[in-house]
Amino acid sequence: MKIIEIDHEKCIKCLECVAECPSHFFLEEKNDSEKIVSFSDPYSVCIQCGHCLSICPTDAIIYQSVEKVIKISKNSMNFNTLFPQLKLLLQTKRSIRRYHPEPVSETEIKEILDVMKYAPSASNARAWKFIILTDPKKIKTLSLKIVNAISLTRKLATNFFIKKFFIYGELRKTIREPSFTISIDRIINDSLAGKDPIFFNAPCVIFLYSPKYGNLAGCDSGIIMTYGMLAAESLGLGSCWIGFAQESLQRLRSLSKFIGIPRGHMVWGCFTLGKPIPIFHRIPPKPDLSVKRI
Ligand SMILES: Cc1cc2nc3c(=O)[nH]c(=O)nc-3n(C[C@H](O)[C@H](O)[C@H](O)COP(=O)(O)O)c2cc1C
Repeated sequence: MKIIEIDHEKCIKCLECVAECPSHFFLEEKNDSEKIVSFSDPYSVCIQCGHCLSICPTDAIIYQSVEKVIKISKNSMNFNTLFPQLKLLLQTKRSIRRYHPEPVSETEIKEILDVMKYAPSASNARAWKFIILTDPKKIKTLSLKIVNAISLTRKLATNFFIKKFFIYGELRKTIREPSFTISIDRIINDSLAGKDPIFFNAPCVIFLYSPKYGNLAGCDSGIIMTYGMLAAESLGLGSCWIGFAQESLQRLRSLSKFIGIPRGHMVWGCFTLGKPIPIFHRIPPKPDLSVKRI
């Protein structure tokens, strides 16, 4: 998307674009005796956030884009019902680890991706790329490969010599935790019992990757993945962020290559998707957040 100029016939000089543009590219200028609003981005550094297009009441900003601006119809949002509905959705969303085998429809996948593209991102970088896995055989194979990798890590991490001389930093701390071996042993045992302890036989898994960029890439990723999972929830689909897969794909090139992630790219997250089996009757208690007011 690229902002070109202002249609002065349509512009009512409300100056909302001047006030809204985070980079101050809209200016009120004097042209002969008349005041006009102009757009000036001499170094082409506009981040294309689209705030000007959103705020202009008369659609007076000329832009170039494959996608079109969508008009928000008046009163389409009822704030009296919106917050309670959204709150309930957020409170009742659980990570789903049991799925019906039927595939997620193409329409549902399209709807979810269509919501995800509205996620905010630092400097509007939008470096996100996705791989969507729906082939059950490929999901199963990847799951087994991850279990094998985890199982090897377990062996290495508990070997005295390797632990002492080759494992350091965060990993050394992690492997000291009893929860590390307990959860890894659970995964290995579930896999031996024929279960899928990584993707839980979900019919669809969505991976997010991108070239490595900036310090805020992890934040961008967390937000877009959450948008996706919440969109799925509102369609009656379940999801679960799979950190085990994410970490394994980050560490082992053979695994990221298996799903077609190009070399030099980072896997930022992945979540399963499918029709949930469990029906939850209650919202579990969650501790209050630790908040200090100053
Ligand atoms: C970054 C991240 C990674 C996670 N990785 C896994 C995972 O690998 N396997 C899994 O079963 N759940 C995973 N979860 C789900 C958490 O265990 C779950 O969110 C937490 O227990 C709270 O449960 P709830 O989401 O149902 O409220 C992950 C969640 C997040 C946010």
